[in-house]
Amino acid sequence: MKKLILTLSLLAVGIVGSADDKEAAMAAGKAKFATCMACHGLDGKGMQVGPQKMAPGYDESEVVKSDNAELFALIVMKGIKKEDAKYMGMMAPLEAALDDEALAGVVTYIRNTFGGHDDFVTVEQAKEWRAKYADVKDSLTRDEIAKKLEESKK
Ligand code: HEC
Repeated sequence: MKKLILTLSLLAVGIVGSADDKEAAMAAGKAKFATCMACHGLDGKGMQVGPQKMAPGYDESEVVKSDNAELFALIVMKGIKKEDAKYMGMMAPLEAALDDEALAGVVTYIRNTFGGHDDFVTVEQAKEWRAKYADVKDSLTRDEIAKKLEESKK
C-alpha cells in the first residue's frame, strides 16, 4: 500500500508540474486582464461606446489567433501607433505596467480564452522578450504588425 501511494504521488508530481505552470499563468493573467477590459471589454469583444468601439475584440484579432505569442507580447509591451480614428481608445505601451509574470499571464489568458489556443507563455519567455526588445522605443505601426504576422506564417 505504501508503495502504491508513493508511486501515485510521484505520478501526480510529474503530471501536475506543467499544468501548475499554466494554471499559475492563467490566474495571473485573469487578474491583470482588468487592465485591458476598459477598452477590450469584459467579454473581450471590444468595449462599445455608442456607435464606436474603444478597441478591437480579441476574437477578431489575427494576432491573438495566430501562433505568434511573441508578437502579441511585443504589442502589449510597445503599444500601437494611432493612425486613424477607427477606435476611440489607444493601445499604449504597457511594459512598465506589467512585470514578467503579469505579461506572461495576460498573453496566456487571452490566447486561451479568446484565441482558441491551449498553451501558455512562461515567465522566462516574457523575460527574454523584454530583453530582446529593450531597445525598441517606438510603438508598432499596423504595417509592422502585418509584416511580422506574415513572416511568422512562413
Ligand atoms: C486605453 C485602451 C486600451 C487598453 C487599456 C488596452 N488596449 Fe489593446 N488596443 C487598444 C486599441 C485602440 C487597439 C487597436 C489599435 C489600432 O489598431 O490602431 C488595441 C489593440 C490591441 C491588440 C492588437 C489587436 C490586433 O490584432 O490588431 C492587442 C493584442 C491588444 N490590444 C492587447 C491588449 C492587452 C493584453 C491589454 C491589457 C494588458 C490591452 N490591450 C489594453 C486599446 C487598449
